Amino acid sequence: MKDGFSRDVLKRYAASERGEFEKVLGEIVEIPTVSVEPDRKAEVHRGAEYAVRLLESAGAKAELIETKGHPIVYGRFDRGADLPTVTVYNHLDVQPAEGPDWRTPPFQFTKKDDKYLGRGTTDDKGPAITALFGARYVWEREVPVNIHFLWELEEEIGSPHFEETIRARAKDFATDSVVVSDTVWVSRACPAQPAGLRGLQGFRFELQTGQTDQHSGTAGGAARNPVSEMAQLLSECLDGNTGRVKIPGFYADVVPPSKKELTDLKNSGFTVRDFKKDHLYKTLRVEDAMEVMKRIWMMPTFEVHGIAGGYQGPGVKTIIPPKATAIVSCRLVPNMNPKKIVKLVTDFVKSKNKDVKVTAEHALPAYQGKTTGPYAEAIKEAIRFAFGKEPVFVREGGSIGAVLSMEKVLKTPVFFLGLSLPEHGYHAPNENFDWSQAEGGMAAFAKYFENVAQLKA
Ligand code: BES
Ligand code: MN
Ligand code: MN
Repeated sequence: MKDGFSRDVLKRYAASERGEFEKVLGEIVEIPTVSVEPDRKAEVHRGAEYAVRLLESAGAKAELIETKGHPIVYGRFDRGADLPTVTVYNHLDVQPAEGPDWRTPPFQFTKKDDKYLGRGTTDDKGPAITALFGARYVWEREVPVNIHFLWELEEEIGSPHFEETIRARAKDFATDSVVVSDTVWVSRACPAQPAGLRGLQGFRFELQTGQTDQHSGTAGGAARNPVSEMAQLLSECLDGNTGRVKIPGFYADVVPPSKKELTDLKNSGFTVRDFKKDHLYKTLRVEDAMEVMKRIWMMPTFEVHGIAGGYQGPGVKTIIPPKATAIVSCRLVPNMNPKKIVKLVTDFVKSKNKDVKVTAEHALPAYQGKTTGPYAEAIKEAIRFAFGKEPVFVREGGSIGAVLSMEKVLKTPVFFLGLSLPEHGYHAPNENFDWSQAEGGMAAFAKYFENVAQLKA
């Protein structure tokens, strides 16, 4: 591109904005926008209000849109109705954060050299603020492109009101393309250009077999034990050691990866060593790199997130508990249907233990994106420009409810320009983001917007 942005100038821009970037990221990380916790509703709202003021202070028009749940923030740098519009999606809600493993308080923004610690720094406040700084650069230089921001505050609970909200105002949200910045690279050395996401079907299994705790010396032997029945049920659903799902038909709709995808995996730069290091694992179910990649990106899972019930305190309290709960979810891959999985799992559970109550929770189909065409090329070029490396095409193992909704309602293609790294600790204690990803990210977004401006020109 002849008159395109120069990497050096963007480096200087980022360096001059670093203090401001850290101030803003710090302020927003310190608002505990935990969408799943009802007690935090006001804090989530305060996060949205902060985001509106932030967009306005950057020179954008901004609006807080109420939904039946948490709000959505909509911002726009509008330069002209006849110009291409690109919408940037991020989410500003975060996962809960508690527990003894945090080395710094999760809702206190902590800067350690180039590292930024705190819940939401990488998922997804850091990437959101980074994209905004990239966009502001483009806006101030009057590049002929409109840049819109859709900032959700219910992503971490499965985007329950996102689709109906954008549907109600689809005309206002009209755009030529969407770029989502909420995904993870293969490693710091290997930027990823995701070609898809796994879907998710959540479940709660509840079993009540008594009214209260009972003495196991008086009733034990005859009384049903809901915790052991739950354990039995779960072991009938899957082999807990290998992860193999034993529910008949579970894998029926899985499409094997294509030759091209397998080649992409081979060239992805993924190593089992780094994977273990980044996720703090000493052992895995499998140790072969290809097998690990297939399992985290291309295969469905049945995961037990938690089992509750019975005595958890010191010593051995010899009761028979009345009730047990298991929280479970299945990651889904393209071509699998969440409704079908709900029926399959529910029928299977009932056939094994008719007293277990099954409740289906968020249902998100998998997403299969495009890896070719001008937008995909524009992203690839922007990443190469900013980070000096070609991104690899992989799929992501996680889920983002809003993606399918945007494609469906806005009738536009969705692409990914994520900035998070495996070692940033998505959903984990000591979540962090870093300046190198922010600095490169600002340049990548600026370049991407410039590339998109030239697409229509
Ligand atoms: N950013 C993640 C999605 C993601 C995870 C992308 C891993 C790439 C790799 C997102 O914030 C997330 O955590 N989504 C949840 C959605 C669920 C709670 C409905 C998920 O995937 O568990
Ligand atoms: Mn996220
Ligand atoms: Mn998340």
